[in-house]
Amino acid sequence: MTAIETIKEGLEGVVAARTALSRVDGERGALTIAGYAVEELAPNATFEEALLLLWTGRRPEPGAVAALRAELAARRVLRPEARAVLESLREAPPMDALRAAAGTLRSTGDDREDALNVVAALPVFAAAHDRLRRGLAPIEPDPALGHAANLLWMWHGVLPDPALVRGLDTYLVTVCDHGFNASTFTARVVTSTGSDLISAVVAAIGALKGPLHGGAPGPALDTVLEVGLEIGSPERAEAVLTAKLEAGERLMGFGHRVYKVRDPRADVLGAAAEAMFSRAGDTRLYALARAVEATALRLLEARKPGRRLQTNVEFYTALLLHGLGFDSGSFTPIFAIGRSAGWTAHAFEQRAKGRLIRPSSAYTGAEGLTWS
Ligand code: ACO
Repeated sequence: MTAIETIKEGLEGVVAARTALSRVDGERGALTIAGYAVEELAPNATFEEALLLLWTGRRPEPGAVAALRAELAARRVLRPEARAVLESLREAPPMDALRAAAGTLRSTGDDREDALNVVAALPVFAAAHDRLRRGLAPIEPDPALGHAANLLWMWHGVLPDPALVRGLDTYLVTVCDHGFNASTFTARVVTSTGSDLISAVVAAIGALKGPLHGGAPGPALDTVLEVGLEIGSPERAEAVLTAKLEAGERLMGFGHRVYKVRDPRADVLGAAAEAMFSRAGDTRLYALARAVEATALRLLEARKPGRRLQTNVEFYTALLLHGLGFDSGSFTPIFAIGRSAGWTAHAFEQRAKGRLIRPSSAYTGAEGLTWS
């Protein structure tokens, strides 16, 4: 029988496997992705470079990146069955539509081929659904564009400025992998059963959707916008946030299971957002977000002393993606597009070295009941 005191609710602090993909140091506030600090990798690498870094364990040569770009471009196809699903789910939440469209992909039986297919397809599905829900026709991918540029193209129908492409690449690389977070763990559990990579990614999308994981940035932006941009609104932050806390709500974009200091990804994305808003010549929203953040941290420390609730990745995700022209319903699908790099890399790693993931549970139900 399992001693109740040995149970780790939520598997907190349990080390379930070795990984060479990323290390999350929650006490130092450091994230290492395949040897590179997130502050070093995210502003400089493209999504394709980060993907190859995770898949192969080393910095890719330019020729390998060009070959991967071509492989992804060849797989960016909106097949009729996926389009039909997206059309039928036009009004559905974007993550439901993304999960369903990803479910139309068939496994080839080859992990790398499946990984290429699903990584290439997620932006196609997410962009098509977003356009369909706005009453617009999906836009054909442009094979000459990289992953981030093509995503912006398919979403907005405008060839993007290189600074915006850089902003999106920085976002996608920042979130590409993060230890054994819930969706990555889900992908590994599915792979560990001998199932295929498409199934692993579909399951991971389901895990990412939840507000305690990838569903937070939309509500985080809503909170900033609720405070409002008018003169004097930073002072309103105190009233808006206090009302939420008094209603028993959590402040979205704050707190983390592992980070007990500031999430390093918040700074990377905050800097990218600041650069983008400065370039566009309007930093009011950025300044307001900083003020809301400072108020939230003060209130959380006062109400939950010693809990060390700090800003997490989602707060500045919201700001950066808003600046890139995405609405708040699109934030989590775009997170999924970035995290698909880590999901697939972890599935490879799990397949190569992992055991079936099958923890135990302590039974607390009744015994010996009779049916007849
Ligand atoms: N606002 C208010 N209170 C909070 C918050 C928050 N954002 N986060 C935690 N708390 C409180 C909890 O109510 C709890 O208080 P209690 O013990 O008095 O009831 C205490 O702090 C500890 O919370 P736990 O739920 O035990 O912390 P856990 O490690 O399970 O949760 C989580 C981490 C889920 C991220 C939590 O901080 C949260 O809900 N944050 C808001 C949602 C969010 O931003 N999610 C994105 C996370 S980042 C990512 O997944 C990519």
